[in-house]
Amino acid sequence: MATAMDQINFNGAGGLRLMADSCGAPEDPVVLLLPSAGQSRAFWHGAAQALAAAGRYAICLDLRGHGESGHAADGRYDIDAHAADVRAVLAALPRRAFIVAAGLGALAAIAAVGEGEPHLVSGLALVDVTIWFDVERAGHLQKSLASRTASFDDEAAIIETISAQNPDEPRPGATAPILAAFARGADGRWHWRGDARAITAAGSPGPREQLQARLGTAVARLGTPVLLIRGARNETISAAATQRLQALIPNAETAEIAGAGHYAATDQEDAFNAVLLDFLERAAPRQPLTYSGGSDPRVLRDALGCFGTGVTIVTTIDETGAPVGLTANSFTSVSLEPPLILFSLARNSANLGIFTQAGRFAVNVLHIGQQPHAGRFARRDVARFDGIDWALRATGGSPILAGSLAAFDCSTFAVHDGGDHLVFIGRVNHAWFEPHRDPLLYFRGKYRRLHFT
Ligand SMILES: Cc1cc2nc3c(=O)[nH]c(=O)nc-3n(C[C@H](O)[C@H](O)[C@H](O)COP(=O)(O)O)c2cc1C
Repeated sequence: MATAMDQINFNGAGGLRLMADSCGAPEDPVVLLLPSAGQSRAFWHGAAQALAAAGRYAICLDLRGHGESGHAADGRYDIDAHAADVRAVLAALPRRAFIVAAGLGALAAIAAVGEGEPHLVSGLALVDVTIWFDVERAGHLQKSLASRTASFDDEAAIIETISAQNPDEPRPGATAPILAAFARGADGRWHWRGDARAITAAGSPGPREQLQARLGTAVARLGTPVLLIRGARNETISAAATQRLQALIPNAETAEIAGAGHYAATDQEDAFNAVLLDFLERAAPRQPLTYSGGSDPRVLRDALGCFGTGVTIVTTIDETGAPVGLTANSFTSVSLEPPLILFSLARNSANLGIFTQAGRFAVNVLHIGQQPHAGRFARRDVARFDGIDWALRATGGSPILAGSLAAFDCSTFAVHDGGDHLVFIGRVNHAWFEPHRDPLLYFRGKYRRLHFT
């Protein structure tokens, strides 16, 4: 039985709205699916259904300028812009994702991960992808993509036009995923749904040698298991090019889908899904999620995330009297007599020196309405206290945020080594609380609210 799709959206680079469909249980391991140029997110619906049935949470994204995603006001549809979108989406996901991506989506994923933070993904399946664009292939791609921006009498004409671009390949095995990128206009004709500039940019992605060198370096840095999949009858991306790409990637396998042409994922959907799921189970196993000393710290973090907590903002004052603070959920009560509490601060915190020097700090426990504060005080690109109502409530105290559920104003009692954190123990000088509001909670990487029935 088909699993329902939920529409969700993300903020891409520069806040551009990116539309997506999700499928499966949000607490399951995340798979992010990126289509190729000219396709919409519906291209991946079949794979997403299979992933959800296998216990994964699948998110099919419309690239910028494609499907229902926003159009770039500045016309930026280069690899950097797409890669920045992918990074923004990965950063917004509660857990590390596995990426499945075709064509342009795959190039964006390579740049996002290989030039960024490989730890944000657990692996990649790259479909029908090459980084070598010779003049002939680039010309073909450009022509093939441009043909989509014409207007068409009917759906059959769309499929006819697309098939005609690759006459030696089998006709697309499934037409619905391709047709989803088109809509009928007020003129009764069929048009491609996105921004035509996105198609033009995908067809001519800039100086070839430069892009090849750059992507060649990026693939070598992927650092996670990679599967390269191609349709065995794909005429545009040869088996030799796929092997050449495999040789550049430290931990890559290849797979061919028999009988599939240009659209390996939808031409032979069942065979494709079987290959994908088999790789996922090996590269990013769902169960058991086990941490053993020295293995992936992310697994330990996920295990710790099973302990639900409240959320606080820990504050202090720097030597100029300016407030500093950050979101922290490591707050714990320690002792009633003397009155002690603790929180731990990452050694890489930009504010480590200030907290160590200040000799005082306050812990502000957030209520459910203060979730925006929690988000804001975990970001590094904002002036955190701008527009925030706060005050020093006691002489020698630290900033107390207006409306907090509770606040503990402390003198630093001790600072202990805590591995990659410092453990700050505070002696509570004053505590305030308000008895009526619900707390903001944090569990498995997400903000939550109390559910009392
Ligand atoms: C829910 C949540 C809880 C957090 N808990 C802590 C924590 O206990 N200790 C910590 O050092 N960072 C914690 N962080 C991360 C910091 O808020 C974040 O890294 C912040 O950017 C650090 O800023 P700074 O470098 O300006 O101190 C948490 C973030 C979130 C979203």
